[in-house]
Amino acid sequence: MNFALTDTQKAIQKLAADFAAKELAPTVEARYEREAAYDRSQFVKAAALGLVGIPYAEQYGGAGADYVSYALAVEEFAKVDAGFAICISVHTSLCSWPIYKYGSDEQKKKYLPDLTTGKKMGSFGLTEPNAGTDAGAGQTVAELKGDKYVINGAKCFITNAGESETYVVFAMTDKSKGMKGISAFIVEKGWKGFTFGKTEKTMGLRSARVRELIFQDCEVPKENLLGKEGEGFKIAMTTLDGGRVGVAAQSTGIAMGALAHAIKYTKERVQFGKPISANQALQFMMADMATKCDAAHLLTMRAAYTKDTAPSWSVEAAMAKMFASDTAMSVSIDAVQLFGGYGYTEEYPVERYMRDAKICQIYEGTNQVQRMVISGAILR
Ligand code: CAA
Repeated sequence: MNFALTDTQKAIQKLAADFAAKELAPTVEARYEREAAYDRSQFVKAAALGLVGIPYAEQYGGAGADYVSYALAVEEFAKVDAGFAICISVHTSLCSWPIYKYGSDEQKKKYLPDLTTGKKMGSFGLTEPNAGTDAGAGQTVAELKGDKYVINGAKCFITNAGESETYVVFAMTDKSKGMKGISAFIVEKGWKGFTFGKTEKTMGLRSARVRELIFQDCEVPKENLLGKEGEGFKIAMTTLDGGRVGVAAQSTGIAMGALAHAIKYTKERVQFGKPISANQALQFMMADMATKCDAAHLLTMRAAYTKDTAPSWSVEAAMAKMFASDTAMSVSIDAVQLFGGYGYTEEYPVERYMRDAKICQIYEGTNQVQRMVISGAILR
Protein backbone atom coordinates (compact mmCIF):
# COMPACT_ATOMS: atom_id res chain seq x y z
CA MET A 1 0.00 0.00 0.00
CA ASN A 2 1.41 3.39 -0.98
CA PHE A 3 0.14 6.57 0.67
CA ALA A 4 2.63 8.85 -1.10
CA LEU A 5 1.42 11.19 -3.82
CA THR A 6 3.15 11.22 -7.21
CA ASP A 7 5.07 14.33 -8.28
CA THR A 8 2.20 15.27 -10.62
CA GLN A 9 -0.40 14.87 -7.86
CA LYS A 10 1.70 17.00 -5.48
CA ALA A 11 2.20 19.67 -8.16
CA ILE A 12 -1.54 19.91 -8.89
CA GLN A 13 -2.35 20.03 -5.17
CA LYS A 14 0.11 22.92 -4.71
CA LEU A 15 -1.13 24.73 -7.81
CA ALA A 16 -4.71 24.53 -6.48
CA ALA A 17 -3.69 25.61 -2.96
CA ASP A 18 -1.75 28.62 -4.32
CA PHE A 19 -4.67 29.52 -6.58
CA ALA A 20 -7.09 29.32 -3.63
CA ALA A 21 -4.88 31.55 -1.49
CA LYS A 22 -4.24 34.12 -4.22
CA GLU A 23 -7.50 34.20 -6.19
CA LEU A 24 -10.28 32.82 -3.97
CA ALA A 25 -9.42 33.97 -0.44
CA PRO A 26 -9.30 37.74 -1.04
CA THR A 27 -12.78 37.88 -2.61
CA VAL A 28 -14.68 34.97 -1.08
CA GLU A 29 -16.55 37.00 1.55
CA ALA A 30 -17.72 39.53 -1.06
CA ARG A 31 -18.77 36.80 -3.49
CA TYR A 32 -20.82 35.13 -0.73
CA GLU A 33 -22.91 38.27 -0.19
CA ARG A 34 -26.52 37.42 -1.01
CA GLU A 35 -26.85 40.22 -3.57
CA ALA A 36 -23.42 39.75 -5.18
CA ALA A 37 -23.41 39.31 -8.96
CA TYR A 38 -21.94 36.05 -10.20
CA ASP A 39 -18.22 36.42 -10.77
CA ARG A 40 -16.88 34.18 -13.53
CA SER A 41 -13.32 35.45 -13.31
CA GLN A 42 -12.25 32.77 -10.80
CA PHE A 43 -13.36 30.03 -13.19
CA VAL A 44 -11.51 31.72 -16.06
CA LYS A 45 -8.32 32.05 -14.01
CA ALA A 46 -8.50 28.43 -12.82
CA ALA A 47 -8.99 27.38 -16.43
CA ALA A 48 -5.86 29.26 -17.49
CA LEU A 49 -3.93 27.14 -14.97
CA GLY A 50 -5.40 23.90 -16.33
CA LEU A 51 -7.53 23.28 -13.22
CA VAL A 52 -10.95 22.77 -14.82
CA GLY A 53 -10.22 19.62 -16.85
CA ILE A 54 -7.71 17.82 -14.63
CA PRO A 55 -8.64 14.13 -15.19
CA TYR A 56 -9.11 14.26 -18.97
CA ALA A 57 -6.71 13.28 -21.73
CA GLU A 58 -4.56 16.00 -23.29
CA GLN A 59 -6.05 14.94 -26.64
CA TYR A 60 -9.29 16.58 -25.42
CA GLY A 61 -7.65 19.60 -23.84
CA GLY A 62 -7.41 18.10 -20.33
CA ALA A 63 -4.41 18.07 -18.02
CA GLY A 64 -3.95 14.31 -18.58
CA ALA A 65 -3.84 13.71 -14.83
CA ASP A 66 -6.00 11.44 -12.67
CA TYR A 67 -9.03 11.61 -10.38
CA VAL A 68 -6.79 11.65 -7.30
CA SER A 69 -5.24 14.91 -8.56
CA TYR A 70 -8.70 16.30 -9.29
CA ALA A 71 -9.95 15.39 -5.78
CA LEU A 72 -6.87 17.00 -4.22
CA ALA A 73 -7.59 20.21 -6.14
CA VAL A 74 -11.27 20.26 -5.12
CA GLU A 75 -10.20 19.82 -1.48
CA GLU A 76 -7.87 22.81 -1.74
CA PHE A 77 -10.59 25.00 -3.31
CA ALA A 78 -13.11 23.99 -0.62
CA LYS A 79 -10.74 24.84 2.23
CA VAL A 80 -11.25 28.45 1.14
CA ASP A 81 -14.40 28.68 -1.03
CA ALA A 82 -16.75 25.68 -1.08
CA GLY A 83 -19.01 27.38 -3.65
CA PHE A 84 -16.16 27.51 -6.13
CA ALA A 85 -15.34 23.87 -5.32
CA ILE A 86 -18.84 22.71 -6.31
CA CYS A 87 -18.73 24.79 -9.49
CA ILE A 88 -15.56 22.94 -10.56
CA SER A 89 -16.85 19.58 -9.31
CA VAL A 90 -20.12 19.78 -11.26
CA HIS A 91 -18.32 21.11 -14.35
CA THR A 92 -15.68 18.35 -14.24
CA SER A 93 -17.47 15.29 -12.84
CA LEU A 94 -21.09 15.78 -13.83
CA CYS A 95 -20.87 17.48 -17.23
CA SER A 96 -17.48 16.66 -18.81
CA TRP A 97 -17.30 13.08 -17.52
CA PRO A 98 -20.49 11.63 -19.09
CA ILE A 99 -19.47 13.20 -22.43
CA TYR A 100 -15.96 11.71 -22.02
CA LYS A 101 -17.32 8.30 -21.09
CA TYR A 102 -20.45 7.95 -23.23
CA GLY A 103 -19.97 10.52 -26.00
CA SER A 104 -19.39 9.61 -29.65
CA ASP A 105 -16.08 10.69 -31.20
CA GLU A 106 -17.88 13.64 -32.78
CA GLN A 107 -19.46 14.69 -29.47
CA LYS A 108 -16.13 14.46 -27.66
CA LYS A 109 -14.36 16.49 -30.32
CA LYS A 110 -17.12 19.09 -30.37
CA TYR A 111 -17.74 19.56 -26.63
CA LEU A 112 -14.81 18.35 -24.52
CA PRO A 113 -11.98 20.72 -25.48
CA ASP A 114 -14.11 23.78 -24.71
CA LEU A 115 -15.09 22.29 -21.33
CA THR A 116 -11.66 21.03 -20.29
CA THR A 117 -9.99 24.33 -21.17
CA GLY A 118 -12.75 26.36 -19.51
CA LYS A 119 -13.84 28.20 -22.63
CA LYS A 120 -17.23 26.84 -21.62
CA MET A 121 -18.74 25.86 -18.29
CA GLY A 122 -20.88 22.75 -17.74
CA SER A 123 -23.98 21.66 -15.78
CA PHE A 124 -25.97 18.47 -15.13
CA GLY A 125 -29.77 18.49 -15.35
CA LEU A 126 -31.35 15.49 -13.62
CA THR A 127 -33.35 16.69 -10.58
CA GLU A 128 -36.98 17.80 -10.94
CA PRO A 129 -39.44 19.13 -8.35
CA ASN A 130 -40.96 15.64 -7.94
CA ALA A 131 -37.86 13.62 -8.81
CA GLY A 132 -35.06 14.25 -6.32
CA THR A 133 -34.00 11.09 -4.52
CA ASP A 134 -36.34 9.14 -6.82
CA ALA A 135 -34.23 10.22 -9.77
CA GLY A 136 -35.98 7.86 -12.20
CA ALA A 137 -39.36 9.58 -11.76
CA GLY A 138 -38.64 12.65 -13.90
CA GLN A 139 -41.46 14.07 -16.04
CA THR A 140 -39.35 15.90 -18.62
CA VAL A 141 -39.96 14.33 -22.03
CA ALA A 142 -38.01 14.20 -25.28
CA GLU A 143 -39.94 13.26 -28.40
CA LEU A 144 -38.17 12.35 -31.61
CA LYS A 145 -39.59 14.39 -34.50
CA GLY A 146 -37.69 13.91 -37.75
CA ASP A 147 -34.02 14.60 -37.09
CA LYS A 148 -34.62 16.41 -33.79
CA TYR A 149 -35.71 15.59 -30.26
CA VAL A 150 -38.20 18.06 -28.80
CA ILE A 151 -37.74 18.49 -25.05
CA ASN A 152 -40.47 19.73 -22.71
CA GLY A 153 -40.24 19.98 -18.92
CA ALA A 154 -38.24 21.60 -16.16
CA LYS A 155 -35.28 20.82 -13.92
CA CYS A 156 -34.50 22.35 -10.53
CA PHE A 157 -31.51 22.91 -8.20
CA ILE A 158 -29.06 22.92 -11.11
CA THR A 159 -25.57 24.08 -10.16
CA ASN A 160 -23.93 26.58 -12.56
CA ALA A 161 -27.28 26.95 -14.40
CA GLY A 162 -27.55 30.12 -16.40
CA GLU A 163 -23.76 30.54 -16.34
CA SER A 164 -22.93 27.27 -18.12
CA GLU A 165 -22.93 26.94 -21.88
CA THR A 166 -23.14 23.12 -21.95
CA TYR A 167 -25.76 20.95 -20.20
CA VAL A 168 -26.13 17.19 -19.86
CA VAL A 169 -29.90 16.81 -19.52
CA PHE A 170 -32.06 13.74 -18.82
CA ALA A 171 -35.52 13.25 -20.32
CA MET A 172 -38.02 10.44 -20.94
CA THR A 173 -37.97 9.18 -24.52
CA ASP A 174 -40.34 6.31 -23.70
CA LYS A 175 -42.59 6.74 -20.67
CA SER A 176 -43.91 3.18 -20.93
CA LYS A 177 -40.47 1.83 -20.00
CA GLY A 178 -40.10 3.75 -16.73
CA MET A 179 -36.49 4.46 -15.85
CA LYS A 180 -35.37 2.34 -18.83
CA GLY A 181 -37.08 4.98 -20.99
CA ILE A 182 -34.80 7.79 -19.80
CA SER A 183 -32.22 9.19 -22.23
CA ALA A 184 -29.39 11.72 -21.90
CA PHE A 185 -28.80 14.73 -24.15
CA ILE A 186 -26.21 17.45 -24.61
CA VAL A 187 -28.02 20.78 -24.76
CA GLU A 188 -26.48 24.18 -25.43
CA LYS A 189 -27.36 27.47 -23.78
CA GLY A 190 -29.06 29.76 -26.26
CA TRP A 191 -31.02 27.08 -28.10
CA LYS A 192 -34.60 28.07 -28.80
CA GLY A 193 -36.99 26.88 -26.11
CA PHE A 194 -34.28 26.52 -23.44
CA THR A 195 -34.45 29.17 -20.72
CA PHE A 196 -33.67 29.56 -17.03
CA GLY A 197 -36.04 29.99 -14.09
CA LYS A 198 -35.56 31.36 -10.62
CA THR A 199 -32.21 31.54 -8.90
CA GLU A 200 -32.38 29.76 -5.53
CA LYS A 201 -31.58 31.69 -2.36
CA THR A 202 -29.44 29.04 -0.74
CA MET A 203 -28.24 28.68 2.86
CA GLY A 204 -24.62 28.31 1.75
CA LEU A 205 -22.36 27.94 -1.30
CA ARG A 206 -23.36 31.46 -2.28
CA SER A 207 -20.43 32.00 -4.64
CA ALA A 208 -22.05 29.36 -6.90
CA ARG A 209 -25.31 29.64 -8.84
CA VAL A 210 -28.28 27.28 -8.55
CA ARG A 211 -31.19 27.76 -10.97
CA GLU A 212 -34.03 26.06 -12.76
CA LEU A 213 -33.83 24.88 -16.38
CA ILE A 214 -36.98 25.28 -18.46
CA PHE A 215 -37.61 23.46 -21.74
CA GLN A 216 -40.52 24.54 -23.93
CA ASP A 217 -40.42 22.76 -27.28
CA CYS A 218 -36.64 22.91 -27.18
CA GLU A 219 -35.28 21.31 -30.34
CA VAL A 220 -32.14 19.23 -29.83
CA PRO A 221 -30.40 17.72 -32.88
CA LYS A 222 -30.63 13.92 -32.98
CA GLU A 223 -26.84 13.68 -32.87
CA ASN A 224 -26.89 15.25 -29.37
CA LEU A 225 -28.38 12.11 -27.83
CA LEU A 226 -25.67 10.97 -25.38
CA GLY A 227 -25.25 7.19 -25.41
CA LYS A 228 -28.24 5.22 -26.63
CA GLU A 229 -31.95 5.83 -26.08
CA GLY A 230 -32.92 4.34 -22.71
CA GLU A 231 -29.38 4.48 -21.27
CA GLY A 232 -30.01 7.73 -19.42
CA PHE A 233 -30.55 6.32 -15.92
CA LYS A 234 -27.36 4.27 -16.08
CA ILE A 235 -25.48 7.32 -17.38
CA ALA A 236 -26.88 9.43 -14.55
CA MET A 237 -25.99 6.87 -11.87
CA THR A 238 -22.42 6.20 -13.03
CA THR A 239 -21.88 9.95 -13.46
CA LEU A 240 -23.10 10.55 -9.89
CA ASP A 241 -20.71 7.84 -8.65
CA GLY A 242 -17.91 10.13 -9.86
CA GLY A 243 -19.66 13.31 -8.71
CA ARG A 244 -19.76 11.89 -5.19
CA VAL A 245 -15.96 11.69 -5.17
CA GLY A 246 -15.96 15.44 -5.89
CA VAL A 247 -18.47 16.09 -3.08
CA ALA A 248 -16.36 13.96 -0.72
CA ALA A 249 -13.33 16.11 -1.60
CA GLN A 250 -15.36 19.29 -1.22
CA SER A 251 -16.62 18.12 2.19
CA THR A 252 -13.12 17.19 3.35
CA GLY A 253 -11.89 20.61 2.31
CA ILE A 254 -14.69 22.33 4.26
CA ALA A 255 -13.81 20.31 7.38
CA MET A 256 -10.08 20.99 7.02
CA GLY A 257 -10.68 24.70 6.40
CA ALA A 258 -12.92 25.03 9.47
CA LEU A 259 -10.38 23.17 11.63
CA ALA A 260 -7.52 25.40 10.42
CA HIS A 261 -9.50 28.51 11.41
CA ALA A 262 -10.29 26.97 14.81
CA ILE A 263 -6.66 26.04 15.51
CA LYS A 264 -5.50 29.58 14.70
CA TYR A 265 -8.23 31.22 16.74
CA THR A 266 -7.88 29.08 19.85
CA LYS A 267 -4.14 29.84 19.98
CA GLU A 268 -4.85 33.58 19.80
CA ARG A 269 -7.95 33.95 21.97
CA VAL A 270 -7.01 34.53 25.61
CA GLN A 271 -9.40 33.80 28.49
CA PHE A 272 -8.49 33.32 32.16
CA GLY A 273 -5.00 34.61 31.28
CA LYS A 274 -4.05 31.94 28.75
CA PRO A 275 -4.88 30.95 25.16
CA ILE A 276 -8.03 28.88 25.13
CA SER A 277 -6.07 26.17 23.21
CA ALA A 278 -4.36 25.40 26.54
CA ASN A 279 -7.60 23.83 27.82
CA GLN A 280 -7.59 20.07 27.51
CA ALA A 281 -11.32 20.00 26.78
CA LEU A 282 -10.71 22.06 23.62
CA GLN A 283 -7.52 20.17 22.74
CA PHE A 284 -9.46 16.90 22.78
CA MET A 285 -12.20 18.42 20.61
CA MET A 286 -9.58 19.45 18.05
CA ALA A 287 -7.89 16.03 18.23
CA ASP A 288 -11.23 14.43 17.31
CA MET A 289 -11.81 16.98 14.54
CA ALA A 290 -8.34 16.37 13.06
CA THR A 291 -8.81 12.59 13.15
CA LYS A 292 -12.15 12.84 11.35
CA CYS A 293 -10.59 15.14 8.72
CA ASP A 294 -7.83 12.61 8.06
CA ALA A 295 -10.28 9.71 7.86
CA ALA A 296 -12.45 11.69 5.40
CA HIS A 297 -9.38 12.52 3.32
CA LEU A 298 -8.24 8.90 3.23
CA LEU A 299 -11.69 7.62 2.20
CA THR A 300 -11.84 10.32 -0.49
CA MET A 301 -8.41 9.39 -1.82
CA ARG A 302 -9.37 5.71 -1.87
CA ALA A 303 -12.55 6.51 -3.79
CA ALA A 304 -10.63 8.62 -6.32
CA TYR A 305 -7.94 5.94 -6.65
CA THR A 306 -10.60 3.26 -7.16
CA LYS A 307 -12.19 5.42 -9.85
CA ASP A 308 -8.78 5.68 -11.54
CA THR A 309 -8.05 1.97 -11.39
CA ALA A 310 -11.19 -0.19 -11.10
CA PRO A 311 -14.31 -0.77 -13.21
CA SER A 312 -16.68 0.30 -10.40
CA TRP A 313 -16.28 2.77 -7.56
CA SER A 314 -19.92 3.20 -6.41
CA VAL A 315 -19.44 1.89 -2.87
CA GLU A 316 -16.11 3.63 -2.26
CA ALA A 317 -17.61 6.91 -3.51
CA ALA A 318 -20.75 6.49 -1.39
CA MET A 319 -18.71 5.77 1.75
CA ALA A 320 -16.41 8.72 1.14
CA LYS A 321 -19.26 11.14 0.33
CA MET A 322 -21.29 10.05 3.36
CA PHE A 323 -18.44 10.09 5.88
CA ALA A 324 -16.77 13.25 4.58
CA SER A 325 -19.99 15.28 4.48
CA ASP A 326 -20.97 14.12 7.99
CA THR A 327 -17.46 15.14 9.01
CA ALA A 328 -17.78 18.56 7.35
CA MET A 329 -20.99 19.10 9.32
CA SER A 330 -19.70 18.00 12.71
CA VAL A 331 -16.27 19.64 12.39
CA SER A 332 -17.73 22.97 11.24
CA ILE A 333 -20.28 22.93 14.10
CA ASP A 334 -17.42 22.26 16.54
CA ALA A 335 -15.40 25.06 14.95
CA VAL A 336 -18.28 27.48 15.62
CA GLN A 337 -18.32 26.22 19.23
CA LEU A 338 -14.58 26.85 19.59
CA PHE A 339 -15.06 30.45 18.43
CA GLY A 340 -17.72 30.96 21.11
CA GLY A 341 -20.05 33.92 20.51
CA TYR A 342 -17.83 35.25 17.73
CA GLY A 343 -18.34 32.01 15.83
CA TYR A 344 -22.01 32.84 15.53
CA THR A 345 -21.28 36.14 13.78
CA GLU A 346 -20.26 36.91 10.22
CA GLU A 347 -17.13 38.57 11.56
CA TYR A 348 -15.42 35.18 11.39
CA PRO A 349 -15.72 32.63 8.57
CA VAL A 350 -16.67 29.49 10.50
CA GLU A 351 -20.43 30.09 10.32
CA ARG A 352 -20.02 30.10 6.52
CA TYR A 353 -18.31 26.69 6.63
CA MET A 354 -21.17 25.36 8.76
CA ARG A 355 -23.76 26.61 6.28
CA ASP A 356 -21.77 25.19 3.35
CA ALA A 357 -21.39 21.78 5.00
CA LYS A 358 -25.13 21.10 5.23
CA ILE A 359 -25.80 20.70 1.50
CA CYS A 360 -22.99 18.13 1.21
CA GLN A 361 -25.14 15.73 3.27
CA ILE A 362 -27.99 16.31 0.82
CA TYR A 363 -26.94 16.76 -2.80
CA GLU A 364 -25.63 14.20 -5.29
CA GLY A 365 -27.64 11.69 -3.28
CA THR A 366 -28.63 12.27 0.34
CA ASN A 367 -26.54 10.44 2.92
CA GLN A 368 -29.54 8.15 3.37
CA VAL A 369 -29.16 7.23 -0.33
CA GLN A 370 -25.42 6.60 0.20
CA ARG A 371 -26.36 4.19 3.01
CA MET A 372 -28.75 2.44 0.60
CA VAL A 373 -25.93 2.06 -1.94
CA ILE A 374 -23.49 0.75 0.69
CA SER A 375 -25.91 -1.61 2.43
CA GLY A 376 -27.20 -2.86 -0.94
CA ALA A 377 -23.64 -3.85 -1.87
CA ILE A 378 -22.60 -5.47 1.43
CA LEU A 379 -25.85 -7.44 1.79
CA ARG A 380 -26.07 -8.53 -1.84
N1 CAA B 1 -24.07 2.38 -11.76
C1 CAA B 1 -24.64 1.70 -12.80
N2 CAA B 1 -25.92 1.30 -12.79
C2 CAA B 1 -26.66 1.59 -11.70
C3 CAA B 1 -26.14 2.28 -10.59
C4 CAA B 1 -24.78 2.67 -10.65
N3 CAA B 1 -24.20 3.33 -9.65
N4 CAA B 1 -27.10 2.44 -9.66
C5 CAA B 1 -28.20 1.84 -10.16
N5 CAA B 1 -27.94 1.34 -11.39
C6 CAA B 1 -28.83 0.58 -12.26
C7 CAA B 1 -29.24 -0.71 -11.57
O1 CAA B 1 -28.32 -1.73 -11.81
C8 CAA B 1 -30.59 -0.97 -12.19
O2 CAA B 1 -30.40 -1.52 -13.48
P1 CAA B 1 -31.14 -2.92 -13.87
O3 CAA B 1 -32.62 -2.64 -13.73
O4 CAA B 1 -30.70 -3.15 -15.28
O5 CAA B 1 -30.67 -3.95 -12.90
C9 CAA B 1 -31.17 0.40 -12.41
O6 CAA B 1 -30.06 1.31 -12.43
C10 CAA B 1 -32.12 0.82 -11.32
O7 CAA B 1 -31.45 0.72 -10.09
P2 CAA B 1 -32.23 0.73 -8.71
O8 CAA B 1 -33.34 -0.27 -8.75
O9 CAA B 1 -31.22 0.62 -7.61
O10 CAA B 1 -32.86 2.21 -8.74
P3 CAA B 1 -33.77 2.97 -7.71
O11 CAA B 1 -34.88 3.63 -8.42
O12 CAA B 1 -34.10 2.06 -6.55
O13 CAA B 1 -32.83 4.16 -7.22
C11 CAA B 1 -31.11 5.28 -6.00
C12 CAA B 1 -31.60 3.99 -6.65
C13 CAA B 1 -29.77 4.87 -5.41
C14 CAA B 1 -32.03 5.78 -4.90
C15 CAA B 1 -30.94 6.35 -7.09
O14 CAA B 1 -32.17 6.80 -7.61
C16 CAA B 1 -30.17 7.56 -6.58
O15 CAA B 1 -28.95 7.54 -6.55
N6 CAA B 1 -30.91 8.63 -6.21
C17 CAA B 1 -30.26 9.88 -5.83
C18 CAA B 1 -30.22 10.78 -7.00
C19 CAA B 1 -29.15 11.80 -6.88
O16 CAA B 1 -28.02 11.53 -6.45
N7 CAA B 1 -29.45 12.99 -7.31
C20 CAA B 1 -28.49 14.05 -7.31
C21 CAA B 1 -28.87 15.09 -8.29
S1 CAA B 1 -27.56 15.92 -9.01
C22 CAA B 1 -26.99 17.05 -7.89
O17 CAA B 1 -27.25 17.06 -6.72
C23 CAA B 1 -25.98 17.87 -8.55
C24 CAA B 1 -25.71 19.24 -8.20
O18 CAA B 1 -26.12 20.15 -8.86
C25 CAA B 1 -24.66 19.50 -7.17
